[in-house]
Formats: sequence, C-alpha cells, structure tokens
Amino acid sequence: FFAGGSAYPLKGRKVIVTAGPTHEPIDPVRYIANRSSGKQGFEIAGALARLGADVVLVAGPTIEHTPDGVTRVDVETAWQMQAAVRKALPADTVICVAAVADWRVDAEAEQKMKKTRDGLPNLTLVENPDILAGISIMTTGRPELVIGFAAETENVVEHARAKRDRKKCDWIVANDVSGATGIMGGTENQVYLITEDSEEAWPRAGKDLVAAKLADKIAERLG
Ligand code: CTP
Ligand code: CA
Repeated sequence: FFAGGSAYPLKGRKVIVTAGPTHEPIDPVRYIANRSSGKQGFEIAGALARLGADVVLVAGPTIEHTPDGVTRVDVETAWQMQAAVRKALPADTVICVAAVADWRVDAEAEQKMKKTRDGLPNLTLVENPDILAGISIMTTGRPELVIGFAAETENVVEHARAKRDRKKCDWIVANDVSGATGIMGGTENQVYLITEDSEEAWPRAGKDLVAAKLADKIAERLG
C-alpha cells in the first residue's frame, strides 16, 4: 500500500503519456523516425493506471500491447501527436516519453520517389513542434507536473539538466542509450531522475520496475 493508505493514490487524477517513435513520411513508402520500442512509455502508462489514474496514452507506431485500463490514441507524426495531446488536456500531469522525430520533410511526395541517374533527391527538412516544451510554457491550464525524458549518449546528467532548463519542464528522466548499454529496445533501463533541486541515479532494473518507481514518485508529488 501507498504511504497515504490508499492502493489507488492517483484516483481522480488525469495523466497523459506520449510513447514510441513518430514516423514522418517522405513519400508513400519512406519515413524519418527515431529508434524507439515504446516499451518504457507503455510501462509507465500501465503503472500509472494501476495506481488509479485516468491515463491517455498517445502512441506512435509500435508493436507494444495496450496496458490494462489505459485509453490509447494511435498517431503517426509529431503533429498528430501534439494534436492528440492537446485534445486530451487538461491533465494533472503529462509525461513525454516519446522519441519524437525532430525533423520532417517540408512536403511529402505524393508518389513514390524513384531513383534516377540524375542524382540524389533533394529533401528539405523542417523542424517539428516540440510537444513537451509547448506544454511546459502553457500560461493557463498548465499541468501541475510536466515530465520529459532525455535519451543521451554522453554526459547524460549534464545534458539532461540543460534540457530541463531549456524546455521548462519540471522533471527530466535521463538515460544513457549509447550502444553498449543495451537499453535501447531492451527490457532494462538505468535512469537518472532530475528535479528542480535534486538528482537521483536509480539502479538498473526492468523497465516495468522503473515505471512503477516513477509512478510512485508522481503519486507522492501530486499528493
Ligand atoms: N520532445 C517532444 N517533442 C519534440 C521533441 C522532443 O515532446 N519535438 C520531448 C521528448 O518526448 C522528451 C524530451 O522532449 O521527453 C526530450 O527529447 P530529446 O529528443 O532528448 O530533446 P531535443 O530537445 O529534441 O534534443 P536533441 O537535440 O538531444 O534531440
Ligand atoms: Ca530530439
């Protein structure tokens, strides 16, 4: 049981979680994407639901199964993800776990692009909206607790703290996804929780346990 005595400390609380990659189409058969299995985000959504929260999971393309008690909204692109999150607001907390593609091509080709002898295709990239930063700077109806993730390959804590300051979210959960860790696509994770005034290194554990611990922390914070 939770310290407060309730097994459902998040009952009556609304939570939005983004998870998985986004796919940004180049033409009908090609896309730009980040590597992301969606596992950690889906585990977090499930853990929050188990604590009684009303959870909307906005998911990019993934093969993960929807956790029990979670409302899932499937999207493909960053723009769709942002629209789905906005539609699901207001919420007590938003947790952006998705590996959103930073760029998309300015205009998707209507037909499959063909290889030609005349050289390479000219792709013009434009930046996608930053969903996390957008929520963090809301002036009315900002969720009480906005949490971002930072997948880094070096200087993890330093980069993550800078990211927290830049995006104006409340917490950042950071991890080292450099190849040797086996975290990306794997079942385990080793994260750092970076808050306004603290930094914690959590032991390496299953993504389900990391999710449960984060859900407990959120419940504690929301009271
Ligand atoms: N994020 C988001 N929308 C984006 C990009 C990122 O909501 N367009 C969120 C992610 O879900 C994550 C956090 O922002 O919670 C950090 O993402 P990350 O890719 O690490 O940050 P970037 O600012 O894109 O920096 P980088 O150049 O390291 O990719
Ligand atoms: Ca990025």
